[in-house]
This record gives sequence, C-alpha cells and structure tokens, in this order.
Amino acid sequence: MSRLFDRTPGPARVSRLARVANSSPIKAARGVRDILPAERAAFVAVERAARDRARRFGYQEVELPIVEPVELIERGVGGDTDVARKELYRLEPHGDSDGEPASRLVLRPEATASMVRAYFQGGLNQGPQPVRLFTIGPLFRHDKPQHLRYRQFIQFDVEVIGDPSPAYDVEVIEMTWRWLEELGIEHVSLELNSIGDGNCRPQYLRALQDYYRPLKDRLHGDCQRRVEDNPLRLFDCKEPQCEALKASAPRITDHLCEACAVAFEEVKAMLDAAGLEYRVNPYLVRGLDYYTRTVFEYQHAALGGAQNSLGGGGRYDRLASDLGYPDTPGVGFAGGVDRVAHMLQHEVGTVTPPPAADVLVLTMGDGLDRAAAHVGRICREVASTAVDYSARSLRAKMRAADKSGARWAAIMNADEAARRVVQLRNLVTGDQREVAWDELAEGLA
Ligand code: HAM
Repeated sequence: MSRLFDRTPGPARVSRLARVANSSPIKAARGVRDILPAERAAFVAVERAARDRARRFGYQEVELPIVEPVELIERGVGGDTDVARKELYRLEPHGDSDGEPASRLVLRPEATASMVRAYFQGGLNQGPQPVRLFTIGPLFRHDKPQHLRYRQFIQFDVEVIGDPSPAYDVEVIEMTWRWLEELGIEHVSLELNSIGDGNCRPQYLRALQDYYRPLKDRLHGDCQRRVEDNPLRLFDCKEPQCEALKASAPRITDHLCEACAVAFEEVKAMLDAAGLEYRVNPYLVRGLDYYTRTVFEYQHAALGGAQNSLGGGGRYDRLASDLGYPDTPGVGFAGGVDRVAHMLQHEVGTVTPPPAADVLVLTMGDGLDRAAAHVGRICREVASTAVDYSARSLRAKMRAADKSGARWAAIMNADEAARRVVQLRNLVTGDQREVAWDELAEGLA
C-alpha cells in the first residue's frame, strides 16, 4: 500500500489525532471577526461609494504596507498616545539572512504616517502639489473589544499633502460629508475645532496645566501623569471624573495666534458657503499628536458611548518633519468602514446581499457532472452561475435553489443531457421550458 493511502495511524499521527480530539474547535482571535457574505454586501457598498466619491474629487488610490517600522508610528502619532502606548501590535523581530539587522515592526494602527512616508519615498513630493491620495484597508489596534470597536478594522483614508491652504481642509470635509450623505446616513453631526500650531499651542498648554495642576488628585491615574507630560491628551479621556473637569478648562479657541485664527475663520466661512453644518467643540483634540490647526469628527448619536465617531481627521503640518522629511503640510481624514457599514445595515437598511449566483445548474441522476460543468460554462458567458454537483435528490436541490435567491434553474437528466437540452425554470414565476444548450444565452437574457 502506498504511503499516500496508508490510513494506519503512525505514532506522530496518533499524537496529532489525540491532540485534535482533546482540543476545542479553533476560533478567530479575540476582537477580530469574519465579514461573511450577508455583511460583506454593506462593506462593498460603503467602499464603492468611497472610491467613487474620492475619484470624483480627483484623489488617486494607493496601497500601502500593513507592517511598518515602529518608529514611523511612534514618531507619527506620538509616543504618549493610547494608540502608541497601549494598542500597538508589535511583531517579533526577524533578522534577515543577508545580515540586515532585525527591524522592529508593528501592524499599522492608522494610515496617515504611512501615507506621508510613501509620498516622500515614492518621490510624489517632486511633482505638482498638492498630491491627493486615498486608500482603503485594514488597521490594527489592541484596544478593549467592544461593540463596533475591533482589533482589526477597515478605514477609508484620504490625504492631501503639500499645501497649507485651509481650502483643502474644507475640501476633505466636504468630500467625506458627501460620502456619508450619498450612503443615506442621517443624523451625523460634524464637530470642528482648531488646536493651534507651534506658535500658540505652547502658551495654551501652560494655561491648561495651570488649570489642571490644583485638580490633579481628582483625575484618574493616566490623566494625572498627562498634566505634566501631554496635557492636550487630557481631553481624550472618557472617564466621568475627568469629563466633569473638562467643561471648565480653558479653551484653545481663545488662545489661537493670529495666523491660526484667520485659518479657522476661513474654514468656517467655506463650510458655511458649502452649506455644511458643524458645531465648534473647543475640547475636540482627537487622539493623535500630529494634528495642527483644524481637527474634525463625524459623530452619530445612535452609535453611542466612546464609539460614536464614524470618522475624523485634520491638518498635520508638522508630521512630515517629525518623520525626518522636509517640512510639508497635509490634511486628511479616515472613516471607519465597519462603523459606516453597520449604520448602513441597521439604520438605513438598504443593503441586501446579492444571490451567490443568478443561475443554478441542477442534475437528476448519476454521471452528469461533465455535462453540468459544460452547461455551467455556457451560462457563465451571460450570467453568474453555480453548478450543484451534490448527490442530493432533485427535490432537495430545488428547495435549496428556491432559498438561494437565484433567478433561474437549468435542470437536466441523462436523457436531456444526451439531447443537449435543459429544462430552464424561472424560479421567480415558476415558468419552465425546454431550451437547447446552444440557445441558453438567449434564454437567460
Ligand atoms: P482615528 O480617529 O483614530 O483617526 O480613526 C478614524 C476612524 O476609524 C474612527 O472615527 C472610527 O470610525 C474608526 N476606528 C478607529 N478605531 C477603530 C476600532 N478599534 N474599531 C472600529 N473602527 C475604528 C485616524 O486614524 C487618523 N489617521 C485620521 C486622519 C487621516 N487624520 C488625518 N488624516
């Protein structure tokens, strides 16, 4: 007997079988999930609308690596942010066989720093400016899994790199607003703020520290440290005792320098002209350190709690130089595709998954697989077609066909296969007629 077909368990096989028998079925890792066909349809609709919208505004699609050097993320989003301190998936370092030292890599938690890196590394800074880019792909954050907060999720990310004009801030806001509008997602509120720049922010941070220092004991653990290390991050905290103190804290909008104040006025005026409603929220700082001036977020009350943001973004004029590249302004946005797809399914309710196939080829009797495959090939010229090769009775196959949402069943027994015909049944109306294989294309039209 050949080794290939030897079913007698050898010692290795026995221990493997014992292991398999003793263990429970393997499930997906915590906080990540499968997007199965019923749900995937909503994602497809969201991603298609994102691509259409971005292209209509002149943005070009790019694909970026999922692994990045840890320094890119730490220097990009800021080492003191939750994203860098607590949520990074760090990969085990692997040296290369050619002696290259092992680099420390992470699964990317966001795409903006990668986008800026790619802009310089790919020489896009040499061409006409600004450069408008977008990407859609998975991100990874080791956060506490909750409803609509996943450890792997998808973002629609757009960036305009190479021009400081506030008109681009508004363009990004308008494009992403229209994306949500086209999908039919209502009750979205646009929160807006300016968090100043290197000129005015240091003075504001001192005012913030003066306010918080006497209240330190009333803040929760991490926030007590932030008073000295990174006071702006105090506004990210959702703990009730910290929320309460936020309400009377000094507002950055009262501390903007002339240039930042003028830029903020221009953003608001252009949003007004575009007919986009917004609410200035002086405590909106967003959880990443690279922002300067404009920050914004789309919130949806139905999402609730800490997960109420459908997307957000802002300007990041210092990010390029923080990453070691020439000073270059940029502005962008990322929308949570999982959250928007959820809204589409549960609030708008417009997405019905398409049937797996429009035509099902069903046979009655044995030995008809080749004929069925041939008929399948003919039908696929004009319609999506699946062949049922199972040994089930025709009755069972018909029951499955009715449930599948397919429009047609092409049914065939041995006699019909010999005559090269099928019974073509319209599963919606129940009409059935004999059609020659050669005429199937017209029959299915
Ligand atoms: P972010 O606010 O960290 O910004 O993420 C943007 C959006 O991604 C959020 O509003 C949310 O919809 C979605 N999201 C974030 N974390 C999760 C999660 N754990 N599960 C499900 N969805 C999530 C950024 O990432 C910036 N890079 C945006 C940006 C682009 N700023 C400038 N350019």
